[in-house]
Amino acid sequence: MVSMDTIVSLCKRRGFIFQSSEIYGGFASTWDYGPLGAELKNNVKAAWWRAVVQERDDIVGLDAAILMAPQVWVASGHVEQFTDPLVDCKQCKQRFRADQVGERCPACGGELTEARQFNMMFKTFVGPVEDDAAVAYLRPETAQGIFANFANVQTTMRKKLPFGIAQIGKAFRNEITPGNFTFRTREFEQMEIEYFVKPGTDEEWHRRWIEDRLAWYTRFGMRRENLRLREHTPDELAHYARSCYDIEYNFPMGWSELEGIANRTDYDLRQHTKFSNKDLSYFDPETQERYFPYVIEPSGGVDRTVLAFLIDAYHEEQVRQEKRVVLRLHPALAPIKVAVLPLLRNRSELVQLAQDLAARLRRHMMTMYDDTASIGRLYRRQDEIGTPFCVTVDVDSLDDGQATVRERDSMEQVRLPLAEIPAYLVDKLRW
Ligand code: GAP
Repeated sequence: MVSMDTIVSLCKRRGFIFQSSEIYGGFASTWDYGPLGAELKNNVKAAWWRAVVQERDDIVGLDAAILMAPQVWVASGHVEQFTDPLVDCKQCKQRFRADQVGERCPACGGELTEARQFNMMFKTFVGPVEDDAAVAYLRPETAQGIFANFANVQTTMRKKLPFGIAQIGKAFRNEITPGNFTFRTREFEQMEIEYFVKPGTDEEWHRRWIEDRLAWYTRFGMRRENLRLREHTPDELAHYARSCYDIEYNFPMGWSELEGIANRTDYDLRQHTKFSNKDLSYFDPETQERYFPYVIEPSGGVDRTVLAFLIDAYHEEQVRQEKRVVLRLHPALAPIKVAVLPLLRNRSELVQLAQDLAARLRRHMMTMYDDTASIGRLYRRQDEIGTPFCVTVDVDSLDDGQATVRERDSMEQVRLPLAEIPAYLVDKLRW
């Protein structure tokens, strides 16, 4: 198993993830996605969106605002109940989550204060006056934008149960103990589905969604043995959930939550109906009944998913007595799909031929042109960032109009006419 330090160092060195505000000494537990990280993250989100929205006819997408009316968070129960128990060390003043420490301070052994409840929502003020009437919250989950729009979406899209609404977006939590790189941060991104079903069918849909979501991770190359399911015990259930299963990943720090799949019952639609005075019940045309749908919620973290895919893809192997580091990312997720590499950078005709090919490939896929090192180093660089294909243009290419395509995992090479390479790669990269 690769260590987290190795992943953090690869991410920094190769432009996946940088510490936020690094030139000012960094800002604790916040991270910036660099050029390759932004591509990888976009690809993860696109793979999710395609699987849950575009390949199905029972789910539609939404992109709701981060700021919402503050009453939303009263109705949802977050103002009252979205808390963690906090303790302070009387000696060294460090703070901990009470449920993660014993009797004494884990840092200095000092005495701890009584636990008090700490609300994890970030508060801000709307407009120039900072008073109670102007308080707004940064959303701690994207889900509430979906519930608040339930009637808008259901009526405009003429959806009948069962159907779902999917959304990707930022969420914010003032975590007491962030850490483990991008695993737990205060600003993060979620991919959430609220799937509305007829009461009584909820348990069956819950089971189906657990299977569906597990299959999504393995479809994009995550190894099944690194995934497991864990049912929440009653004392750890969120205030809105009747039951919840976590999909856990075998991270370097141990098995930890990647995604939660909860049965939220009709809690949220009922609460919003009560607090807004707008009826969010559903009229069932088949049974001619009106009722509140139940909700199954698969809710994953984009940042955790990116991190898990990076860890899962990381491989070290010996090739001709040398260490080769290769990210075996699924081609759909790989930030760069093909690298075009001229064998000699001081032959202008060769460079021109390679650049022309790169320009043609760019119309179809994320392409990188690189002539800044020897071919061996260029291959190593691309292997380390997970590029599925490299195309090497050499002196013979000038005569025979062909180039060598090398596949990342097998390192097998085929020689193909330059004109055929774009179609060949488009076909290989189809998913
Ligand atoms: N709407 C349900 C909900 O928000 P959650 O289990 O609190 O449920 C869902 O969060 C997912 O969001 C988690 O499985 C995790 O992947 C991600 N997540 C939650 N808190 C996070 C944090 N502080 N940093 C990074 N990801 C986080």
